Amino acid sequence: MQTNYIIRGFGHYAPERVLTNADLEKIVDTTDEWITSRTGIKQRHIVAEGESASDMAAQAARQALAEAGMEPAELTHIVVATFTPDSMIPSTACVLQSKLGISGQMCVDVSAACSGFLYALQTARGYLALEPEAKVLVVAAEVISRRTNWDDRATCVLFGDAAGAVVLTGGGEDERPRLLDMMLAADGSLGDLLTVHGGGSAYAYKMGEPVGPEYFVQMQGRETFKHAVRNMTSICEALLERHGVGKSEIDVLLPHQANWRIIDAVGRKFEIPPEKVFANIDRYANTSAASIPVALSEAVKTGFIKPGDLVLLTSFGGGFTWGSALVRF
Ligand code: ACO
Repeated sequence: MQTNYIIRGFGHYAPERVLTNADLEKIVDTTDEWITSRTGIKQRHIVAEGESASDMAAQAARQALAEAGMEPAELTHIVVATFTPDSMIPSTACVLQSKLGISGQMCVDVSAACSGFLYALQTARGYLALEPEAKVLVVAAEVISRRTNWDDRATCVLFGDAAGAVVLTGGGEDERPRLLDMMLAADGSLGDLLTVHGGGSAYAYKMGEPVGPEYFVQMQGRETFKHAVRNMTSICEALLERHGVGKSEIDVLLPHQANWRIIDAVGRKFEIPPEKVFANIDRYANTSAASIPVALSEAVKTGFIKPGDLVLLTSFGGGFTWGSALVRF
């Protein structure tokens, strides 16, 4: 069975159009001061008309493949994490495959909201355990702007569009970056705290009916906040304990970018100084599943993560779902 999981390349993409807090002040009753002090967000990227999750996924995927020195045709599996797929059918993974100009690979979408990338990565590890020669493209892509209620100031200021990608394969003991281990969890009883119900089969609608607020992100922010800090902390502690790794051994903490206060709270619990905590929420806002691969790709390309670093990833999202991962660079 494969036990070495090597990340061969990183890619990320964000649409050209930027929506600043000042722009939002013209749309809803909010201020740059409120958004910055409550979330750390200064701007977010928004797709162009006609641009889709699979378009962004293809951009990020091509970058990751180029970095890995691989051709798309070498891939054996494509896993896409998203809660904003292009369509219900076909899956965004299938659309992405076609946009990459390849066919034959197993393609599947994974739905775990903001934890989607870590869930997709674990899925990829499973494929590699079954087929050691597998070469798995793992992409997360979100067009949250099309599932945003632009009349709801409590949610519309929080999200942005982006995509991130990695290629996961097997490899030798000494190869890096190596995905050492992961832990994932969920609590479906808390699902109603963060929803996009509309379009699902439990929420029947008739042709011609107007679309209501249930088609867009609805969130009980304060409750979500508490669960996010508690669960990200506990699942990181459990993973470190499983590997006998002390908090002081972590070189970089890279959490899901939902809110600077959540990122800061998790960092404090682990006694990790702010300069070792990666954050780009100011420029991207919360891009859900895409947030971790975008942050990873940026952290690698800017040298924030250096060879030899032990990096702790953690996420929390709707479902509720959460997870942690350890990567040795
Ligand atoms: N501008 C100005 N005022 C606002 C805004 C806004 N954009 N939004 C809300 N307010 C007001 C509210 O109406 C409220 O006013 P009131 O006191 O008069 O009623 C006040 O600000 C406080 O609102 P809260 O919602 O209590 O503010 P809070 O400090 O909790 O911050 C936030 C809200 C930023 C949403 C925070 O709770 C949060 O980040 N939650 C977690 C988000 C998260 O982690 N999500 C998980 C991943 S997302 C996914 O899976 C897709």
